[in-house]
Amino acid sequence: MKIIVYGVRDDEKPFLKEWEAQNESVDVQIESVLLDADSVKLANGFDGVVAFQQKPYTAEILDQLGTFGTKVLSLRNVGVDNVDFTAANRNHIKVTNVPAYSPQAIAEFTVTQLMQLLRNTKVFNHKIVNGDLRWAPNIATELNQLTVGVFATGRIGRAAIQIYRGFGAKVIAYDIFKNPELDKEGIYVDTPEELYRQSDVISLHAPAVKENEHMLNDNTFAQMKDGVIILNPARGTLVDTDALIRALDSGKVGGAALDVYEDEVGVFNTDFGSFDKIPDARIKNLLERDNVLVTPHIAFYTKTAVKSMVNTSMDASRDVISTGESDKIVKN
Ligand code: COI
Repeated sequence: MKIIVYGVRDDEKPFLKEWEAQNESVDVQIESVLLDADSVKLANGFDGVVAFQQKPYTAEILDQLGTFGTKVLSLRNVGVDNVDFTAANRNHIKVTNVPAYSPQAIAEFTVTQLMQLLRNTKVFNHKIVNGDLRWAPNIATELNQLTVGVFATGRIGRAAIQIYRGFGAKVIAYDIFKNPELDKEGIYVDTPEELYRQSDVISLHAPAVKENEHMLNDNTFAQMKDGVIILNPARGTLVDTDALIRALDSGKVGGAALDVYEDEVGVFNTDFGSFDKIPDARIKNLLERDNVLVTPHIAFYTKTAVKSMVNTSMDASRDVISTGESDKIVKN
């Protein structure tokens, strides 16, 4: 059996080598290029393709894989919003993902960013490098005094809830699928509007589906408390970036931590050499604000998560090739 792995970073190589050593019957080819319409030709002759969610996996790519007889496309991450499932199905290519490589990685990062916003660390860093070591006027707010609204209570949302509660925050949540344990505790509000109305902090943990595209927009920001803090470690498309900028300008939104951005492809995880050369005016606008933290989709990026992403995706690819089955197959 032959598996080609696209977009392999140096930090993934040791885990891949370890997997290869434990799976001697599998012929693994490691490529640093991302899977796209050009590099897809490298997959000719391979049963399985393992890739990372960076570019769209379009009908053109999937039709080409179909002609190569590819049996499975395994993503080394959770989100599958970049895959054209109609084309995958028509080509009999199964798609697998890694549903839970480390929910804690994302939850821990989200709360870290919230704490930075609440304790004004970006402001103090700027003041300190300019020799200003005064306290005022940057007095902080304590998390234990706040209500955090968690939007979506899948694995990541639930891991975040645990941490928020550890800090003593009041947590409310909204999800169309209620978790039975959390439901018993009475954590859920009935509507997103109720969550917006009651929360001091909104923590987004929903996937990118059509229904929640730009769910945070001018209209929904208007329903929130003045000075609300927005945390988005989930998907850029959940937030209308122009509306967020307007809400930051007006003070409606008091702070934001964004680990994702709707136009992040080609911008995040790229070295532009200097701030001036970042080719995205909105990201620069956000980065320049003291009450906004922008990070380049790094919430997932821990040793625990990367190892799990590699092993789980490789296992899933191997299993689908040899048996046609894996509990990581995504039905769509
Ligand atoms: C995911 O697993 O879907 C993520 O958001 C991580 C990412 C860098 C692809």
